[in-house]
Amino acid sequence: MKFVAPCLLGLEGIAANELRHLEIENVTAENGRVLFEGGFDTMARANICSRYAQRVLILLGEFEARDFETLFEGVKALPWSDFIGEKDAFPVKGSCVSSELSSVPACQKIVKKAVVESLRARYHTEWFEESGGVRQIQFLLLKNRVSVMLDTSGEPLNKRGWRAQSNDAPIRETLAAAMVELSRVRENHIVVDPFCGSGTILIEAALKAMRIMPGVNRSFAFESWEQIPAEIAESERERARAGERRDVSFFAYGYDIDENALSVARHNAQIAGVADKIVFKKRDIADFSEDYDACTVITNPPYGERMLDVKEARALYQTMGKVFLRKPRHSYTVISPDEAFESFFGRLADKKRKLYNGMLKCNVYMYFK
Ligand SMILES: C[S@@+](CC[C@H](N)C(=O)[O-])C[C@H]1O[C@@H](n2cnc3c(N)ncnc32)[C@H](O)[C@@H]1O
Repeated sequence: MKFVAPCLLGLEGIAANELRHLEIENVTAENGRVLFEGGFDTMARANICSRYAQRVLILLGEFEARDFETLFEGVKALPWSDFIGEKDAFPVKGSCVSSELSSVPACQKIVKKAVVESLRARYHTEWFEESGGVRQIQFLLLKNRVSVMLDTSGEPLNKRGWRAQSNDAPIRETLAAAMVELSRVRENHIVVDPFCGSGTILIEAALKAMRIMPGVNRSFAFESWEQIPAEIAESERERARAGERRDVSFFAYGYDIDENALSVARHNAQIAGVADKIVFKKRDIADFSEDYDACTVITNPPYGERMLDVKEARALYQTMGKVFLRKPRHSYTVISPDEAFESFFGRLADKKRKLYNGMLKCNVYMYFK
């Protein structure tokens, strides 16, 4: 089978490499998504283990369609009854980008009609009550090429199951994990987030260091599909758990001025099972200091969008420039949508990487010299 894993723009390469490390085959990265091949075991593994993908979809078919009839016939020809039982619900959603068929609701209707027609031929029924398990159908019409997919994840993969609560502006878990990956945290480094909020970056860093797979403690839509044997997810979970390492030297500090955010962070770390690896303390960035031998700072300061105004956010960047000292074995990774970040911080980044936080274009600024 072919699979598609959509991801945030800018994370395609990281997401593809991770899947290759999971011994998944024929992995290729495209704009905003990664494609790969395998069986149901591969699908379960990608769901359980991917830190960067948004979801895992079965790619049922791809073809060109410039009119409704071609769309209808193409969708109808796909093997729907392999995945959808007589009682299952099969809602359809999708998007149209730079295509002659540009109306999403109209395409949605055609796709639904085509699936009904295909299932009718198989189940010999006129009416589908759709009272059973959900099979979410997704289509993407991109430059007149349709991809028809079935969502196997359910809740998006950034929902790891440990974020019981969040503060006002939490970073998405997938993006936090990508920042950790880009920072190349070394084993003997202390990891610090001086604007830790609900603790996302440090929790993701701890999970990665301990090789705890992000989806090992949550469930996925495909687990309620009777077409997929339950042992598949069970054995992939076992495989994931067997690789966990509780005895790593990882340690982290999270600081914030907001007591409420700090208690949310402590609570989240507890649920994630990494509370003994992270200390959260109240501290203003102006009082930031670290006297560790080796230290990796990874942080998501207020942007001046959801929190503070741009002027106040820029004043924080200036403070960061003063307190983030240039020292051997010290590195700093900061995400910001502010193109002027480097001038307020006071130093040009050693490396810069463009990433999207949802629709918001950001840069990850990395300082390691
Ligand atoms: C964008 S949020 C960080 C969100 C975090 N990454 C998460 O996932 O929850 C920025 C955080 O900076 C904190 N903050 C604002 N001004 C600060 C200051 N002067 N010193 C330390 N923290 C500050 C806010 O309380 C907020 O929690």
